Amino acid sequence: MVSSKAMEKFREMKRKGEKIAVLTAYDYPMARLLDESGIDIILVGDSVGMVVLGYEDTTSVTLDEMLHHTRAVARAVKQALLVADLPINTYHTPEQAVATAKKLVEAGAQAVKLEGGVSHVPQIEAITGAGIPFMAHIGMLPQSVREEGGYKLKGRTPAEADALIRDAQAVEKAGAFSVVLEIVAKEAAKQVTDAVSIPTIGIGSGEHCDGQVLVTHDLIGLFPWFTPKFVSPEARVAEEIRKATRAFIERTRGTGSMSKTSA
Ligand code: KIV
Repeated sequence: MVSSKAMEKFREMKRKGEKIAVLTAYDYPMARLLDESGIDIILVGDSVGMVVLGYEDTTSVTLDEMLHHTRAVARAVKQALLVADLPINTYHTPEQAVATAKKLVEAGAQAVKLEGGVSHVPQIEAITGAGIPFMAHIGMLPQSVREEGGYKLKGRTPAEADALIRDAQAVEKAGAFSVVLEIVAKEAAKQVTDAVSIPTIGIGSGEHCDGQVLVTHDLIGLFPWFTPKFVSPEARVAEEIRKATRAFIERTRGTGSMSKTSA
């Protein structure tokens, strides 16, 4: 396992103003492509539930599913840091959080992430106390989307921004090596970033964060049925798949121009 000390590299990147690039992966080929491209951190996010498993949100993802996908990603990753999510209902107590984190580490994760700030300090302290590097996640928390009634922007008012700063300072004190800020108002994200010495990794939270994370399927246009507003896709992979599929169908049915020669 990577030592918590090795995580110092990310604080150092923040100090030097070097931005940290993070993408999700859930399987071997995607993880290998991202790793070979030089990504800093690969996250086996519970977003796997939505973009791979076809659930409506992340609240149905199980630990067994996370372990399965973490093992596949771990077989591919050589240079990036591999972080895996603790899924919903697997960290109610500090003891349960450590037991879940250890399973993810056995599956190949080098660090783990769970959703929550001040409210989850006991769980975070237990995980970091067990020597497992920890990435925090505050702001909009997808595992609470049903209670929240949607993916709503956080940090809009001074009171909300202050609460986010308290969350970030609490997770830093509990030993987190970085903190994801999800769908946080740009100005609040800047205040949080300035208030802690661990890097903030933003998703839909503006350019002032110390790094950026995206769901890879959103970045490459592999989940065309829904793209979050804050994503500018760099590719249209779904279109390529549809094109290749149509070409194969034509070739197979003998309706394409290459049908006789390319089988
Ligand atoms: O599950 C996930 O992919 C995440 C990122 C969106 C930060 O938590």
